[in-house]
Amino acid sequence: MSSEKYYVKIPSIMGETARQILLEKGLLNPSYRIISEGSHLYLPLVNKSTEIEVRSLLSIEDVEFGTREFAPISEGPNTLSDALSDRLTKEQLGLLPRSYDLVGDIAVLEIPDELSAFSETIGNAFLKVHPSFSTVLGKKGAVSGTIRVRDYSLLAGEDKTDTIHIEYGCKIRVDLAKAYFSPRLLEEHNQVSNQVVDDETVLDMFTGVGPFALHIAKKHAARVLAVDINSEAISLLKESLKINKLVGEVIPTISDAREYIRERLPDKVDRIIMNHPSKAKEYLPDACQAIKSGGILHYYEFMSSENPEDELKKQITEMIEAAGRKIKAISRVRRVRDSAPYEYQMVCDVSVR
Ligand SMILES: C[S@@+](CC[C@H](N)C(=O)[O-])C[C@H]1O[C@@H](n2cnc3c(N)ncnc32)[C@H](O)[C@@H]1O
Repeated sequence: MSSEKYYVKIPSIMGETARQILLEKGLLNPSYRIISEGSHLYLPLVNKSTEIEVRSLLSIEDVEFGTREFAPISEGPNTLSDALSDRLTKEQLGLLPRSYDLVGDIAVLEIPDELSAFSETIGNAFLKVHPSFSTVLGKKGAVSGTIRVRDYSLLAGEDKTDTIHIEYGCKIRVDLAKAYFSPRLLEEHNQVSNQVVDDETVLDMFTGVGPFALHIAKKHAARVLAVDINSEAISLLKESLKINKLVGEVIPTISDAREYIRERLPDKVDRIIMNHPSKAKEYLPDACQAIKSGGILHYYEFMSSENPEDELKKQITEMIEAAGRKIKAISRVRRVRDSAPYEYQMVCDVSVR
């Protein structure tokens, strides 16, 4: 039976990205069908969604809120908690993960230690609530090592770690076991790519499976030199290049970023992306050699100080001066995501003289 639900109305072109973001945050009501009318979609929301939260997550101007009738997808449970209400105690239900990482048709859950005995039960319940997913993985440990991957255990569904993830219409080939990818960087990929202009040469020093490079080349007739030390990441990027319509050019290269700058970079570049927050500092002197006067560095760092914005501006100014360059302007400093309790992944956009 159809039922009246609170909705957010968005342009259809934003549909997949908005659906993914709201689902990850537990705000999309998965039990009702999304309605498509003209060039817009109506996404049914769960009751607790607030307009402010949804607006800030989607960061689109063209959104409207209201209520209307939605048709149910199935009569199954609406939430993980509903699906497990006869298997877990009230206290255990309170420990269930509230948000997930959704990568293509793979859901990644972080099961708290207290619920580890129920991991597979939780995975199967997830598939009952969200039948469009193929696989549910559990995080095992933290992202670590040079290539920044973590281990996963299969909780339910098909035993696989590879998929195609879609961000703002960009198709990204991902294999979570072989190369780094985080759907939480979606907005950052979008913001950086929006700053690029046609004919720029961009060096993406730690490209991974190439999300920044793909976003840029999808929108701009720019040239992206996409470098990563992990050969698997570069193979995945090469596959993505075959399945996207790009207006720009991406040149994928397996290399250590320092060696690439010192030995293979043909000319100084207009823009450098340094998204390797635990190590970017060590590569900043080389990036300072590779950037044109007036060029922009997108510098990433983990920070846990009380005022990470001011701290990052101070650090980057000192480091760039120590590398023999001067800062023209710092145009953007932002908290990209929470990386640990009381720690943020930060970004700073710096134009260099
Ligand atoms: C945090 S990931 C970022 C990936 C990508 N920029 C993204 O947004 O998904 C850091 C990447 O740096 C790569 N990496 C680590 N050390 C490197 C080095 N010395 N030179 C080039 N790439 C390196 C890793 O393989 C990994 O893919």
